[in-house]
Amino acid sequence: MGTHKKKLLLESMTESEAKLELERLASLIAEHDRLYYQENEPIISDYEYDLLRRRNSNIEEKFSHLIRLDSPRFKVGAEPLKRFGKFRHKVPMLSLENIFEESQIDVFLNRIKRFLGLGANEEIQIVVEPKVDGLSFSARYHDGNFIIGSTRGDGIEGEDISENIINIPNFPKNLKTASSFKQKVIDVRGEIFMTKEKFIELNNNRSSMGEKIFSNPRNAAAGAIRAIKKDISVLSSLDIFCYSWGEAEPMTWASQEEYLNKILTWGLPVNPLTFVCNSFQEVVDAFKKILEKRDSLSYEIDGVVYKVNRIDWQNRLGSQSRAPRWAIAHKFPAEQSETIVELIEIQVGRTGVLTPVARLKPVFVGGVLVSNATLHNEDEINRKDIRIGDTVIVQRAGDVIPKISSVSLDLRPKNSTPYKYPKNCPVCDSTAVRKSGESVWRCSGGIFCPAQTVEKLKHFVSRHAFDIEGLGAKHIEEFFSLGIIVRPDDIFKIQRQDNKLPSNKRLKNIEGWGEKSVQSLFNMIEKRRSISFERFLYALGIPQVGRTTARLIAENYGSFDNFLNLFNQDIDDKDLIRNFEDIDGIGSSVAKDLIEFFKDKNNKDILDSLLKEIKVSSYKSLFSKSSEIYGKNIVFTGSLETMTREEAKAQAQSLGAKVSSSISARTEILVIGLNPGSKLNKAQNLKIKILAEQEYLEVIKK
Ligand code: IVH
Repeated sequence: MGTHKKKLLLESMTESEAKLELERLASLIAEHDRLYYQENEPIISDYEYDLLRRRNSNIEEKFSHLIRLDSPRFKVGAEPLKRFGKFRHKVPMLSLENIFEESQIDVFLNRIKRFLGLGANEEIQIVVEPKVDGLSFSARYHDGNFIIGSTRGDGIEGEDISENIINIPNFPKNLKTASSFKQKVIDVRGEIFMTKEKFIELNNNRSSMGEKIFSNPRNAAAGAIRAIKKDISVLSSLDIFCYSWGEAEPMTWASQEEYLNKILTWGLPVNPLTFVCNSFQEVVDAFKKILEKRDSLSYEIDGVVYKVNRIDWQNRLGSQSRAPRWAIAHKFPAEQSETIVELIEIQVGRTGVLTPVARLKPVFVGGVLVSNATLHNEDEINRKDIRIGDTVIVQRAGDVIPKISSVSLDLRPKNSTPYKYPKNCPVCDSTAVRKSGESVWRCSGGIFCPAQTVEKLKHFVSRHAFDIEGLGAKHIEEFFSLGIIVRPDDIFKIQRQDNKLPSNKRLKNIEGWGEKSVQSLFNMIEKRRSISFERFLYALGIPQVGRTTARLIAENYGSFDNFLNLFNQDIDDKDLIRNFEDIDGIGSSVAKDLIEFFKDKNNKDILDSLLKEIKVSSYKSLFSKSSEIYGKNIVFTGSLETMTREEAKAQAQSLGAKVSSSISARTEILVIGLNPGSKLNKAQNLKIKILAEQEYLEVIKK
């Protein structure tokens, strides 16, 4: 991932810098989404993640014409695992925007007032709920009977977890239905979580059995609820709270408060620490009350959620693809503890990036035992002057790999010396290089660095790449050290090679393997001889080419042959770069990495051999283009009667239209309200389609 030497300031950012930065943030956030949602193994804190998203939104706000197709704003989490049955949500499951300071509450409230066209002095009732740190679920009931339960997944499609969820003690399989119960259908939504006490108990058991422990209650709950092989004893230690809904037939409640009261009578658990507030001050007080209670609660919370109480307002406010405008999460500050840096080690990644990690004297930070902290890169170590032996403050916000927030200089040992960033790769000893404009050092060993090669191979077989299940990280390391798999193409030749060997030299004789397991590995590899273009591109592990970039490229070139042809033609690099830059969302830095990769002799060699073994299928588009205004360029002018301009714009965008503020040759529809002004003339001259507000509303209703 291309990183910058200095953090670019938004105020002074040029357009091309913004483009690059948005590109970097898109792939970075996508990668963190994957780690969080699919691996249950995040490596940055929620806090840092939120900062990344915030930075992305801020840049997008200023340079709105640079918003990428794969912008993080259009995504909620990551795609679901495919081992479970899938469940398509009737109403998407959204996520929440975050704020971190009290002052931002006002910004949130004012934005709502502006959007709805309310007076500045009008009060908006806000429901304040604790933000339980678990994982969200949706449970569908027909006539009060449980039908199916699912995770959020990517917000559109989740995993069917019915078999597991019914084992949670306070999850009702039937709602308490009085004779007045008329609810035909309801998707009840809420949070599944594990109490702090149960979490500690579970980890104690696991460590005494020599099993891997969970890093926090959220991961433990996620692990249990998504386990194929259900573990009743762990499932029965889970809990739920309900706070929202998806499809509801009929819809009889007019407010969030009314909904919560109603579902309580149906026997669904609702968090008792919920407040209905009538003013900004009451909201602030509710936040403080919940924060004060935080440590005494039996479960982890990482903030509070503010929701507009009135549902007619919620509906008008709608959502930006990732989050509703009528709700926001106010996150708690990060938790901190003091400890000692015992060692600084360097990890080698698949693209050779050398990442420093501090090994710490284990310490509890907000209830979680922490023994590693990421040091990010050389600049970060220098800036904070972190040294071995230093007493430091470790910080952990929500989940994940903690970081060092400061060094206690008064406690520094007398003989301590500044940390010297190694100039060589710790694994292959090749020189480390730091390109100008990058903040990371990379091992220059390339294919000669075993650490890089192994990490690349692990990536090649990983879930979103070739997804060879029986060939995990451990196996890759083992086969690599035995010289059996050294290049990706070796994987697909493994069976033929094995058959050539005398019986006593074959894989089945390796310790831990047998005739059956080897055969099953071969079968799994066979099943993966066909792969989609975008997965294949991602699998190659090209620097900066994550899943979203791979998909963008696949979308543009359709087939891998088509794409590869670019490099076989007689085009110079400059034209090639331009060619890639034409793709919305790809900048020159990614373009250069692509060219470097596909022109490399060794890579060409591997590709040639690989393509003899596998079939790369063409890209299949996922977009549905159902609305009449999908993809159209629209301009609104004049004062609209049924909604504010902001509301109109948001609604059009949610239907896939591009909304601009001025008329140009690209404009396709002009929607006019009262007193349309000069835009109308301009549109008439350009023969652009003109719709009155009512006509427009008819068009989008279809
Ligand atoms: S409301 C459109 N309410 O926080 C409504 N979410 O960061 C979206 N969460 O995905 C969710 N407590 O998993 C809502 N009281 C609460 C919540 C809550 C925890 C989680 C939920 C959501 C995530 C967003």
